[in-house]
Amino acid sequence: MDALAIIKKKRDGQRLSRSELSFLIEGYTTKRIPDYQMSAFLMASQLRGMSPEETIVLTELMLKSGRVLDFGAESLRVIDKHSTGGVGDSVSMILAPIVGSCGVRIPMISGRALGHTGGTLDKLEAIPGLRTNLSISEIYQQIQDLGVVMIGATQEITPADRLLYALRDVTASVDFIPFITASILSKKLAEGLSGLVLDVKSGRGAFMTDSDQSRKLAETLVMVGEYFGMTTIALLTNMDQPLGRAIGNWLEVEESIECLKGQGSQELLELSLTLSGEMIALAGLADDPSEGMQIARDAVSSGRALDFFAKIVSAQGGDPKVITNPTLRMRSIEPVTVNLPLDIHGFVTDIDAYQIAEVANNLGAGRLVIDDEVDHEAGIVLHLSVGDRVTPGLPIASIFGRNADLIDASSQKILDAFQLSESPIKKPDLIIDRLTSKGWTSES
Ligand code: URA
Repeated sequence: MDALAIIKKKRDGQRLSRSELSFLIEGYTTKRIPDYQMSAFLMASQLRGMSPEETIVLTELMLKSGRVLDFGAESLRVIDKHSTGGVGDSVSMILAPIVGSCGVRIPMISGRALGHTGGTLDKLEAIPGLRTNLSISEIYQQIQDLGVVMIGATQEITPADRLLYALRDVTASVDFIPFITASILSKKLAEGLSGLVLDVKSGRGAFMTDSDQSRKLAETLVMVGEYFGMTTIALLTNMDQPLGRAIGNWLEVEESIECLKGQGSQELLELSLTLSGEMIALAGLADDPSEGMQIARDAVSSGRALDFFAKIVSAQGGDPKVITNPTLRMRSIEPVTVNLPLDIHGFVTDIDAYQIAEVANNLGAGRLVIDDEVDHEAGIVLHLSVGDRVTPGLPIASIFGRNADLIDASSQKILDAFQLSESPIKKPDLIIDRLTSKGWTSES
């Protein structure tokens, strides 16, 4: 078998067999197949498509590229959540402490920034000292001691996703349902979960901008998750405007801490509580998701969830004091405020999440090439969301950047991302629909 023949076959629109896909995934993970051939395969697949069978095989091969965790008798309470990627999506840092403090076990494997979207790993690493590259024995130990660990794909766990994720990010091969499915589910299956809750984003800030495509992504994820025996539930959620107010790594950690105190963006908190409720019910610790959501709410109002976040941070070598008091983290950037022009009033009808993400990434919050370092402090804090009233000169955003020219250009781009109108509009619903193995149940 040779890589060139397999790439040609996919280029010509043919299906690949298990052994051909295995040759590529195994070859790439062991560095026999170079980046340029894998890039050609990624693009040919995206242009020509992959069948459901190929998607299942790809998921399995990526899963088996590394070790699979096994929690034995405990595994019924091992549940996780994963998002398909959004802008300002800091839900994982809010939900893991909430659900963990309620007794659910979560060996959470997250990703880095991908395309225009942010990644939980980059956000966590904005916490001074925190490590995300734990060994297998450290993972088991932390699950036993605390119940939650927040890590990335490593050389030992789903190494194929670790490598392919970085390559997809810089070869425009992110927004393709089979790759997203195999990437997410290989990581989640490697965690040895019994249940998974997916936050499938739909809208301009998501990989799937079109609602039919987002539904298709949710259906593929649920189908493949259930195929591997993992109970899989998907919530379809709106990603037209950024989620919450902060876009950027440390800025999102700060926002998560606010939410864990019951403050900050209520949309972000409510979504985190809804997803937490689903997880608590899947773990058998509540009769249904709404009872689970009430348990999650109590974890926030009692302060238990915030304390638990500090414990996770401390267990992974981070400084827990910055969780209880975020102002202790050294700051080297002063924010610049963007104000509305003086002749404007009305209501915010739209904030383009994609445009805002591009500005944040250019400021340094994301990567433009594989080896880029992210700037943990860079990003944007929005002061308004869709439906809010505006008055002349109102501050609409704060920019955290290091380059004066870039900050000037960013101010204009942020203003351009806002649409205003004279008449008020209703705040859009965040949760659009819910999918289980039994089908869709409309939320609206
Ligand atoms: N999250 C992942 O882990 N992988 C993707 O491809 C998209 C979102």
